[in-house]
Amino acid sequence: MKKGTFVVLASGRGSNFQAIIDRVRDGYIDAACTCLVTDNPDAYAIQRAEDAGIPVEIVSYKAFSDKDKYENALLSVLARYNPDLVVLAGYMRLLGKKIVDSYNGRMMNIHPSLLPAFQGLHAQRQALMYGTKIAGCTVHFVTHDMDAGPVIVQRAVRVLDDDDEESLSERILIEEHHAFPEAIRLFFERKLQVDGRRVLILP
Ligand code: GRF
Repeated sequence: MKKGTFVVLASGRGSNFQAIIDRVRDGYIDAACTCLVTDNPDAYAIQRAEDAGIPVEIVSYKAFSDKDKYENALLSVLARYNPDLVVLAGYMRLLGKKIVDSYNGRMMNIHPSLLPAFQGLHAQRQALMYGTKIAGCTVHFVTHDMDAGPVIVQRAVRVLDDDDEESLSERILIEEHHAFPEAIRLFFERKLQVDGRRVLILP
């Protein structure tokens, strides 16, 4: 009997989603991914879900006249699967208050920087332009403010003199593929304890 279920939201390539699928398959994550939800009917993540036998729900933003209606549709899809955890793996939309409140402490996102540095889009480019020597990735709980929730796992990457956005992004992505499964595993082991801004990892 697995420890619980989760749903993944992804908008694109889905390499993090794939890393998570692989770690469920090899038993590192003791939980079942019951659905992929995407806002993008062309997302490559759909193919990955199909290959893994995971149901797909397409909730296309364009199909709704406003954000409220879109979010209600998303909420009702999520409610149908009733997951213990919602995983944002390259989901490119900001979620509204209702969804964030519904999954408070039960929704995670991954961001390609060492937060709180470089929130928002093109975090790797921002790190290069700023000139930091260390970059990385962060898995955090989702709160109302973008890329600002309590930090669960971070992994660092050295910035090399000859890095460009692509090479740095590639090396950060390798770390993302370790960080996200680790955070999900800890969640289902019930080892994450949120204490204000800090996430304590129980022994
Ligand atoms: C990753 O860099 C992630 O940190 C960011 O979006 C990208 C998604 O990549 N949130 P993928 O779709 O998982 O390959």
